[in-house]
Amino acid sequence: MADIDINGERLLTSLQEFGRIGALEGGGVCRLALTDEDKAGRDWVVAQMKALGMNVTVDGIGNVVGVHAGREDLPPVMTGSHIDTVRTGGLYDGNYGVLAGLEVVRTLRDAGIRTRKPLAVAFFTNEEGSRFAPDMMGSLVFQGSLPLEAALDTKGIDGTTVRENLERIGYRGSAPTRAMKVDSYVELHIEQGPVLDIEKIAIGAVEGVQGISWTEFQVSGVSNHAGTTPMRLRHDAGHVAARVACFARELAGELGGDQVATVGSMTVFPNLVNVIANRVVLTVDLRNTDEAVLKSAEQRLWTFAEEAAAAEGVAISRRSLARFEPVAFHPELVSLVERTARDMKFSVRRLPSGAGHDAQILARNCPAAMIFVPSVAGLSHNVREHTEPGDLVAGARVLFRVLTQLADQQSVR
Ligand code: GLV
Ligand code: MN
Ligand code: MN
Repeated sequence: MADIDINGERLLTSLQEFGRIGALEGGGVCRLALTDEDKAGRDWVVAQMKALGMNVTVDGIGNVVGVHAGREDLPPVMTGSHIDTVRTGGLYDGNYGVLAGLEVVRTLRDAGIRTRKPLAVAFFTNEEGSRFAPDMMGSLVFQGSLPLEAALDTKGIDGTTVRENLERIGYRGSAPTRAMKVDSYVELHIEQGPVLDIEKIAIGAVEGVQGISWTEFQVSGVSNHAGTTPMRLRHDAGHVAARVACFARELAGELGGDQVATVGSMTVFPNLVNVIANRVVLTVDLRNTDEAVLKSAEQRLWTFAEEAAAAEGVAISRRSLARFEPVAFHPELVSLVERTARDMKFSVRRLPSGAGHDAQILARNCPAAMIFVPSVAGLSHNVREHTEPGDLVAGARVLFRVLTQLADQQSVR
């Protein structure tokens, strides 16, 4: 196997071709989960899997798994990621891991090689969570942490459900969720942060994923005339929402270290220049590698929001959209990634992931790890997301070596 390698040009061409599905004018892609663009992307990947002779199954939440048979009928070594994107996504977030997985299978097939264990390439439904919360929905159902019915009943930002959209695009499959035993899972992904790019390191051996807390606040005040209402008599939902947003930022600054805070969505009603807002819905995304600090950040944010609402005489409610504790990947797999990259003469370092990934969910059931490649200027969830072609090929080469070693050796436990 040591003399066999993936075809880098073929991988790069497939990434560009796939990037045309849901392409945005001026660059980037929009394939929000379960939209027509997501369906077109799914159809394209499934066609590739079938052309590679893989056995393709679609489960009840629309996760798609293609299996390249091994010499023995054992649980597969799995790779993959997601092909849904945020509204302003780049070409590589998620897609890279899935297409690199297919390139690994294509390489084995061309060489007429079957590994001992089967190799599976999966793409999980709604990893992004931009349209339907929580993120990593498909892998949560696959792993058994989220009941299928609850996931199907989830309403998205446009008020429609996962169920109706899955049925509409024809991806509410019949394969049972949770039925597949997986030997191990390794996901290749762009870093989406600046560390590898700044340090000019080719490969990241990902040690784990930081904890994620998404809270949605609903602030309800009273609309009134912007000109006639004295400041002391206002019940301004907009003012409270703005204070919460500023506090989240200050909190992250005060806690320092790995703490980050983002107010990425704020919807104001009635959203008019001369009307005091009577309702604002806003989200706060808090993340930290340290669960205790993340918990205290949540508590301080929630307390501040209640106090700010009381001071303005408005009502406030909150609900959790997503909550994940920090995850540590399997030490042996992390070492395998690191050792393999080093043996291939790539520069490599260990690092945590700032973004959420399906690998952190799979890690609950099987040994899991991730391989990162640099993101130019650390940009992601942005149409200008970019990774140099040489880095994309390097990551896929490491993935090939890691997967084939895992598929040919005794299982890690
Ligand atoms: C998923 O991309 C997330 O980390 O928000
Ligand atoms: Mn991703
Ligand atoms: Mn993403």
